[in-house]
Amino acid sequence: MDRFVERSLDQLDYLAVSPDRAWIDNGLGSANRFEPLPLMAALLDEAARELPIVLHGVGLSICSAEIFDKEYAQNLIDWANRLGSPWISEHLSFSRIGLGHEVNSAVALPVPYDEESLNLLIPRVRFLTDTLSCPFLLENNVYYFNYLEQTFSEGAFLNELCRQTGCSVLLDLHNLYTNAVNHSFDALEYINELNLENVREIHVAGGVRMMGFHTDSHTGPVLDSVWELLEHTVPLTPNLQGVTFEFHESSFGRLGEEGILEQVEHARSIVNNHVTASLSASSR
Ligand SMILES: [Fe+2]
Repeated sequence: MDRFVERSLDQLDYLAVSPDRAWIDNGLGSANRFEPLPLMAALLDEAARELPIVLHGVGLSICSAEIFDKEYAQNLIDWANRLGSPWISEHLSFSRIGLGHEVNSAVALPVPYDEESLNLLIPRVRFLTDTLSCPFLLENNVYYFNYLEQTFSEGAFLNELCRQTGCSVLLDLHNLYTNAVNHSFDALEYINELNLENVREIHVAGGVRMMGFHTDSHTGPVLDSVWELLEHTVPLTPNLQGVTFEFHESSFGRLGEEGILEQVEHARSIVNNHVTASLSASSR
């Protein structure tokens, strides 16, 4: 894995990284809250001189009822400025729970899609969209349980959140596939309802079946069903700026450098096929 990016520069258009790996978080309210880890920070700075770096945060927990961590949000913004990120993203979920003292669920949990959640999120998302000098994206999350009473579907909730805040959507097609399999709904109907004008980035990834569930393990190559969703979605997404192959570092050995670059090339060929088809359609 060492120097993989450096060796593969001519085959990559941008890098999407979890910036949380580049700092130590000393806790809410600490005088020296976020301490950069010199090695990781230097790697990101070096990579940013060669490629655009998209930040994909995992620690904001923007849907926590009691916690909106402006210090974390500001740290993300500072890193986006430092690296000149073209956009940054976070997950539409929560993992931090304020019960007098903070508890971390260690897994991203879903939020009920209702007016209360919308009203909780709007000022938080606006803080990011107003403060950032680049677009802010929220990603549809994977969930392994569902709330019984919700006012909105996920697509309608994201449409409304984007309309009221100016944020954009990171559409994770593997998360969508995982939810569709586990909760028995039609992924194409979801895509049909989502306002695809708001989608700036798409994620594709691999996953495995475990104990009756499909999981978003981010291991292995992209599933054929997810490639099919990408082929369906790309032509319908007018403001798409990137398709990201997500993989967990533990699967690096299994995929291998060639395997990772094959996934990237496959995604690129789907996007380019659409661009070529659009150009030939417009020249007629
Ligand atoms: Fe994702």
